[in-house]
Amino acid sequence: MESAQGIEAVSLANKKIILGVTGGIAAYKAAELCRLLIRAGADVRVVMTAAAQQFVTPLTFQALSGKPVPTSLWEAASGDGMEHIHLSRGADLLLVAPASADFLARLTHGRADDLLSALCLARACPLAVAPAMNREMWAAAPTRRNLEQLRADGVSLLGPATGEQACGETGLGRMLEPADLLAALPALLDAGPLAGKRVVITAGPTYEPIDPVRGLTNLSSGKMGYAVAQAATEAGATVCLVSGPTCLASPAGVTRIDVQSAADMRRAVLAALPADVFIAVAAVADYRVDAAAAQKLKKSAAGLTLQLVATPDILAEVAALPDAPFCVGFAAETGQLAEHAEAKRRKKKLPLLVGNLAQDTLGQDTAELVLFDDRGEHRLPRADKLVQARHLISHLVNLLN
Ligand code: CTP
Repeated sequence: MESAQGIEAVSLANKKIILGVTGGIAAYKAAELCRLLIRAGADVRVVMTAAAQQFVTPLTFQALSGKPVPTSLWEAASGDGMEHIHLSRGADLLLVAPASADFLARLTHGRADDLLSALCLARACPLAVAPAMNREMWAAAPTRRNLEQLRADGVSLLGPATGEQACGETGLGRMLEPADLLAALPALLDAGPLAGKRVVITAGPTYEPIDPVRGLTNLSSGKMGYAVAQAATEAGATVCLVSGPTCLASPAGVTRIDVQSAADMRRAVLAALPADVFIAVAAVADYRVDAAAAQKLKKSAAGLTLQLVATPDILAEVAALPDAPFCVGFAAETGQLAEHAEAKRRKKKLPLLVGNLAQDTLGQDTAELVLFDDRGEHRLPRADKLVQARHLISHLVNLLN
């Protein structure tokens, strides 16, 4: 049960993927990625650059994929010499992981002087790249320019992540972990139970200013909302995550829009519609300061009284739209969970509401949830938030069907 809800739940059955491996220390992680792709049911063909072979041998990938690993435009001349054309025909995705700074530069300019770059230029399928490089190389102006061009050319960027690098430095540029890359692929491949569905998710707290340096907020970490965004992506949905201030990295493949206040969040959500599903995980502030001060407030012995006014209820507004998506609400309570949760579900006319006890959940990595729908209550005993998010998405898929 547990494994069926884990990353093993990602299905890439019948999907033909070409995995391009370029020269970087993360090439060793591409071996694990290859294994995960095959385990998810994909038909994988690996192509390596000359530089990649300085890190891992073609034999490793041949053993993992069970297929020969082409490495050169010229050795391919053993057939009709058109390997750079044939390989991508019939493929569903060309994924270059890791994609070095040099490879991205060559890709940007349409170079075709080795098998993998020629394959990218001659491809007849979508292309995704998982950059991996030193943080300074990632931040360098030429790399920035190249990435902008690649995005404009329709190439999907997966990552990079931030953290410790092989060179000993710490920063942005690490390749995403193989499991995170795998999680992003169903959405790119139109695979999974939510394939073709657009899902908008809110996450984190909101921040309502009092003056330019102070504000009202809450203890939401955003972990649950980000986990739901990852789980929906794994299920194949195109996900737009509207996030209040958090310290979290976006799940791979998710489009994230950062906002501060409830009013900003409402605007961003309405702009992200139409959608098939709206999941409101954010702990939206119920009140904001009526007239936030333009200048920093000075303290006074007389104390301070703030006039608060209600913020817009984003979920209620979206649920009441004529073409409302399937709406899922969250309710964090400190007691009488079932009573409050059912009352909120009825009031906002939601097909599904997720209840939890705030004091047991806020900021933590695990949560105990109860799902409320027309059929009753479904308890999800305490588990990691990503595991819970996957349960929630599979429950939602059942309701949608
Ligand atoms: N929500 C929203 N916009 C708001 C307030 C809440 O979209 N302005 C959403 C939350 O994301 C969550 C659900 O509505 O999905 C929570 O419902 P709500 O009744 O507003 O919960 P609380 O704000 O916790 O209500 P209360 O403080 O009365 O318990």
